[in-house]
Amino acid sequence: IKVFVPRDAAAVACGANAVAKALKAEAEKAGADVTIIRNGSRGMLWLEPLVEVESEGVRYGFGPVTAGDIPGLVLGGLFSAPAQVTGTLAIGPTEKHPYFARQTRLTFARCGLTDPVSLADYTVNDGYKGLEKALAMAPLDIVKEVTDSGLRGRGGAGFPTGIKWKTVHDAAGEQKYIVCNADEGDSGTFADRMIMEGDPFLLIEGMTIAGLAVGATRGYVYLRSEYPHAEIALNEAIRAAKAAGYLGQDIRGSGKAFELEVRIGAGAYVCGEETSLLESLEGKRGLVRAKPPLPAHVGLFGKPTVINNVLSLCAVPYVLAEGAKAYHDYGMGRSRGTMPVQLAGNLKHGGLFETAFGISLGELIDDIGGGTLSGRPVKAVQVGGPLGAYMPRTLFDTPFDYEEFTKVDALIGHAGVVVFDDTADMARMARFAFEFCAIESCGKCTPCRIGSTRGRETVEKIMAGIDVEKNIEVMKDLSETMKFGSLCALGGFTPYPVMSAFTHFPEDFRRVQQLQA
Ligand code: NAI
Ligand code: SF4
Repeated sequence: IKVFVPRDAAAVACGANAVAKALKAEAEKAGADVTIIRNGSRGMLWLEPLVEVESEGVRYGFGPVTAGDIPGLVLGGLFSAPAQVTGTLAIGPTEKHPYFARQTRLTFARCGLTDPVSLADYTVNDGYKGLEKALAMAPLDIVKEVTDSGLRGRGGAGFPTGIKWKTVHDAAGEQKYIVCNADEGDSGTFADRMIMEGDPFLLIEGMTIAGLAVGATRGYVYLRSEYPHAEIALNEAIRAAKAAGYLGQDIRGSGKAFELEVRIGAGAYVCGEETSLLESLEGKRGLVRAKPPLPAHVGLFGKPTVINNVLSLCAVPYVLAEGAKAYHDYGMGRSRGTMPVQLAGNLKHGGLFETAFGISLGELIDDIGGGTLSGRPVKAVQVGGPLGAYMPRTLFDTPFDYEEFTKVDALIGHAGVVVFDDTADMARMARFAFEFCAIESCGKCTPCRIGSTRGRETVEKIMAGIDVEKNIEVMKDLSETMKFGSLCALGGFTPYPVMSAFTHFPEDFRRVQQLQA
């Protein structure tokens, strides 16, 4: 009997390890032949820990399960053949659950299904199909395939991945690098973590294909220090891939080389910005570099470097395995393929929801997310991390598409969606945006270093009712300066939450209130 308990950090935080331990103890007590597999998360986070039992070839879920529930589940027939799959915690066949069934899982196809660190599980479930194809292709043909797929950078900027790869392919240089930006620091985002913990071979495969495409023989995953479970999974997978010849000096007998290692960041948000990430990777303080030169020309240790987000690289194996058209067929406009949307905040059904571009924000919040957990009306939704815009219900028709979001002064970013109910105070959120920027600023340029602190002070004056209209003008003016005068997106995007909060909820700025720390 196979029983699955996620090893994913979110599930572990909700008690998955204790659940696995209790299952083992009950199995021993019952003398049952039970294999406990620590899988990745299925992404339905409100059900974690989600325990699954495989019965007659179908996976049935129970959740959220506590260690205390296990004796009862076993008594009820969890270990019987066929297993007893009803009861208060039962959700039925996991993949038929509406939240799961409505998704288009191209990137997360294996996440939660397999044992993340089992190479055999990976290959038997279509893993390394993309690499096998890439090994037989000319580098420029790989680049073309990625370009034709329409894949755009999932880190936030949405820059076409194929064009970035072409720039690095064409750049002169003996040594080139692939760097994976796994410094997932945005509030409400967890897709990078989930895929690295739940299907680490996918990232390794994507990076290896990138290496073959541009002629890079070495890759680094720059992983945030707050992700110890991902570090363990990645390193275990790298060891297994090396042992089986999928990494190293002679990949699968092709004569082509790609080496990969994981480097741990030190906790600065700004190190998610690509140039300060490179500085940090080189062992220096995470200060932003001026662009140009682009990292594609002068990157890690001064060499041409592809820097891609985890999700961009994880989309690549599907593109190679199934072809550019298969990926391009999903989506709308210039936003092709799927986006793993992360639903978080005050929401009934928070979790990972991978879907083709084009779904509306309202559908994601009301329909899939089930509205607020508090049961109160939704006031605003922040999309794209702490520097993303706040969107009111009047913008819920906006389809998930880079250009459509830009039209309404919002950004998709890394597709983190954080929901707030009507108790949220938007002036306070504007103050928080400035404060966040002040804390995380690398200090290199004046609009961000000084502007963020002056911005927080200005919002505090507004909240305290001091010269409100005059200070609103100062806040607007400061936002303009930061937006256009900052060297990188940290300072440049802080005006998005500030100004969207003001534009959509001006009444919150014109109400005198007590300041709290
Ligand atoms: P960018 O627009 O400067 O560049 C995007 C990527 O394309 C970079 O990797 C850049 O090196 C590369 N690139 C640009 N032109 C190229 C060319 N001709 N050849 C090869 N590569 C080229 O954006 P940046 O500064 O890397 O990131 C800013 C974006 O990050 C914003 O647009 C925003 O959406 C996102 N962001 C998201 C945040 C969030 O909270 N989710 C926070 C801050 C930024
Ligand atoms: Fe540094 Fe802020 Fe300037 Fe970016 S905008 S370079 S984080 S000071």
